[in-house]
Amino acid sequence: LKVAVLISGTGSNLRALLEAAADPSYPAEIIAVGADRDAAGLAHAEEFGVPTFVVPFAAHESREAWGRELTARLAEIEPDLVVLSGLMRLLPHGVVERFAPNIINTHPAYLPEFPGAHGVRDALAAGVDQTGASVIVVDDGVDTGPIVAQERIPVLPGDTEETLHDRIKPVERRLLIDVVRRIATGDLPPR
Ligand code: GRF
Repeated sequence: LKVAVLISGTGSNLRALLEAAADPSYPAEIIAVGADRDAAGLAHAEEFGVPTFVVPFAAHESREAWGRELTARLAEIEPDLVVLSGLMRLLPHGVVERFAPNIINTHPAYLPEFPGAHGVRDALAAGVDQTGASVIVVDDGVDTGPIVAQERIPVLPGDTEETLHDRIKPVERRLLIDVVRRIATGDLPPR
């Protein structure tokens, strides 16, 4: 299975996927890593010899124009699956339309709880004693697509956004690696 991963940040989840895919027995290959900015996580792709590309959001006059360029770059690569792993950008409809249902996203909350860009912060602010990690199929909404995998994670007294997110990320990585494997082996249709 040919996988393109899109990031915006440190790419720790991306790194976990790169490490998993480095195992010849893993049924998926990361063929490219893209970002909407000069993301630090692109260094992980370079370390693993995976081609990278940047479609700077700031360089486009609209979200739709950015989406058209992103779609064109991905279409050149022809991935079987697009993985959003810390892409802090809503995909314009054109991108979703071109690749759906073969786009999945990992989110640091127990969807449909706490969707959006601040799921960890929102869970903390809500004072809940548990949150979670989720992998969904991307649709046109904000974290509204079909849930493919998710797991509960405790919120501990004294947690900060950072300590909670650090507890969530390893679970996200495990779920993501497993979901990509299941899609690659046909055990899990993206829908
Ligand atoms: C992950 O928790 C992801 O779900 C969220 O942002 C975080 C990205 O972390 N959207 P990293 O860039 O993979 O370290």
